[in-house]
Amino acid sequence: MNKTLFITGGAGFIGSALVRLLIAETDWTLVNIDKLTYAGNLESLAMLQDQPRHVFSRTDICDRVALDQLFQTHQPLGVIHLAAESHVDRSIHGPLDFIQTNIVGTATLLEATRSYWQDLPAAEKTAFRFHHVSTDEVYGSLGADGLFLETTPYDPSSPYSASKASSDHLVRAWARTYDLPVLITNCSNNYGPYQFPEKLIPVVILNALAGKPLPIYGRGDNVRDWLYVEDHARALHLVFASGQPGQTYNIGGHNEKTNLAVVDALCQLLDELRPRSDGLSYLEQKTFVSDRPGHDQRYAIDASKIQRELGWTPAEDFTSGLRKTVLWYLANDGWINNVISGEYRQWMDRNYRQR
Ligand code: NAD
Ligand code: DAU
Repeated sequence: MNKTLFITGGAGFIGSALVRLLIAETDWTLVNIDKLTYAGNLESLAMLQDQPRHVFSRTDICDRVALDQLFQTHQPLGVIHLAAESHVDRSIHGPLDFIQTNIVGTATLLEATRSYWQDLPAAEKTAFRFHHVSTDEVYGSLGADGLFLETTPYDPSSPYSASKASSDHLVRAWARTYDLPVLITNCSNNYGPYQFPEKLIPVVILNALAGKPLPIYGRGDNVRDWLYVEDHARALHLVFASGQPGQTYNIGGHNEKTNLAVVDALCQLLDELRPRSDGLSYLEQKTFVSDRPGHDQRYAIDASKIQRELGWTPAEDFTSGLRKTVLWYLANDGWINNVISGEYRQWMDRNYRQR
């Protein structure tokens, strides 16, 4: 059977971690379909530049003609769909890009997939999977107690989470209406190497090193459930390979922290690993700023289903994962400087061949 898999959004933070993992741990050929928005960075895949099993295609998931051509050319055994606009703050300032990519793009990809899948021979048709990578934010906000289950009703707060909830509904509708064999995973906050410095952890690391304020929204008492990105990538591999079609799996790290605790932990790590030249602590740079509108108070995942049914557990706890993350940012000036200067946008044209 053909061993080609489509990955959308493979130049992003989680997608690139998944591409690196699957190239290392499988013999699959990956067709990486990515529009390269500001969040797409092929420098995160620089180590795969000469890897023939990584095929990059600069394609917008809203472009049906281009998607149809890719399906006909590569005849994949499945799709893992990560391409999205992913940042809540950006969705508050400009929601329409989120509607376009996350809703219209997912619907377009579903239609292109269905059109290819329905004509496959029986064995390939049965084995095919469309795996949608989604978020715990679709469930809305928790109070002080409780955990998100796969059965928790949807109650999204931001344009981002509403667009992801909508895309989840579309994926389920394509399963119920057309029998497309789908999988959905809803994951908590990821962190780790190669994360774009708009999300909390890289913002804090890079601002700290640059001597800038460390912005904490509101009182800093919002809680997130942090998962090391390589643990997420392993979970995605497992669900794609062994998950039951039609099922949803929640993925989380059992690492609930307030934002204040995250910022404090980062400052303490940086004090140890790259002390400030004036001898003061990075904690001095903490700054409370206006809260995010509609800011969800608490997210926490019950990951017992994926643990029980597929045997997945995270390898990193927050202490080990955060130290690895800080060490990675301290050791990768080149990647960081190219992101800060915007040079990463030109990097592909100079270094990467579209196959
Ligand atoms: P990211 O913003 O780092 O990467 C998104 C990628 O999608 C980029 O490479 C971008 O170029 C590409 N893309 C955007 N619009 C596109 C389009 N129209 N066509 C093709 N490609 C397009 O995002 P991420 O943090 O890696 O998240 C990946 C997925 O995982 C998203 O679907 C997100 O909703 C979901 N998710 C993220 C987290 C998290 O903590 N980051 C947690 C749970 C789920
Ligand atoms: O829960 C999964 C979601 O996690 C994903 O679906 C999203 O794609 C991903 O961006 C992330 O969303 P959050 O909004 O939780 O992540 P962010 O890093 O933007 O913010 C984390 C928390 O930190 C949140 O409570 C807001 C706060 N924050 C964020 C930034 C950028 C700050 O206090 N200061 C900041 O500068």
